[in-house]
Amino acid sequence: MSASTPIKRVKAGVIGWPIGHSRSPLIHNYWMEQYQIDATYGLCPIDPSTDFRAALTALAADGYIGANVTLPHKENAFRAMDALSPMAEKLGAVNTISFENGQMIGSNTDVGGFIASLDAHGTRWRDTPALVLGAGGAARAIIAALDAEDVPEVRLVNRTRDRAEALAALAPTCIKIGEWQARGALAAECGLLINTTSLGMTGGAALEMPLDALADGAMVSDIVYTPLETDLVMRARAEGYVAIDGLGMLMQQAALSFESWFGIAPIIDAGLRDKLIADLQEG
Ligand code: ATR
Repeated sequence: MSASTPIKRVKAGVIGWPIGHSRSPLIHNYWMEQYQIDATYGLCPIDPSTDFRAALTALAADGYIGANVTLPHKENAFRAMDALSPMAEKLGAVNTISFENGQMIGSNTDVGGFIASLDAHGTRWRDTPALVLGAGGAARAIIAALDAEDVPEVRLVNRTRDRAEALAALAPTCIKIGEWQARGALAAECGLLINTTSLGMTGGAALEMPLDALADGAMVSDIVYTPLETDLVMRARAEGYVAIDGLGMLMQQAALSFESWFGIAPIIDAGLRDKLIADLQEG
């Protein structure tokens, strides 16, 4: 490097549109400080009408080591990569980009993050049927995760049945599509229930989901985290199930992205969770 070459600080960030609501900077900057990594993590708004690959090239030139990708760009990122992890390839979606030696490498830490969020509360979920509510982008990663862990049966229900059918290829051996209206009965013997719909979010419609048919000690995971204590999480806890709120997957997928860039598996501690809760309360 010549004396006149400016030294660029390592950067990372989250790409989306809109992106102002993202909690990823809080999470990654917390770990960068904790592990004394001289880097910053910020927001990277990319308008969907711009050339996505060109926007990524500009980030790499600006000193970015990598980036997370959120709505509406996970599929755009998939198409823009030079190389993909097997899971990103399977899902057709990238949530983590690494800029390495002039190459753009895409992976998907939503899958591993979801598995880790369950394992933080126990591992018996692998041995029983799972019931998944919803068939949007979040459901894709979750179904792929359940399939990768060889869950014996994945029951999938969605208000719009066609969207559920479209996900069947992700887990061809274990997926069974059911009717949205039958979701209460379909919970029978399930050791795991996951809400991937937007129902239960602040200001939105409620999720009506009877829990009494679930297996004893079942885990109930809600990916909604605004509010953190959804009606589903509160009822699951009150009825004696293991309730997992939406911060679990958010923090775990971030930890896997952080590790892919910096080679450190960050600890998810109570301090981080408290900061996120305080931030969510501020709105
Ligand atoms: P994401 O990609 O974040 O998962 P999405 O694609 O908008 O978001 O998916 C939202 C999910 O919530 C879908 O499964 C959606 O059902 P449809 O496919 O029928 O739209 C579900 N959802 C949203 N509002 C709903 C409602 N009022 N009743 C039932 N399901 C609802």
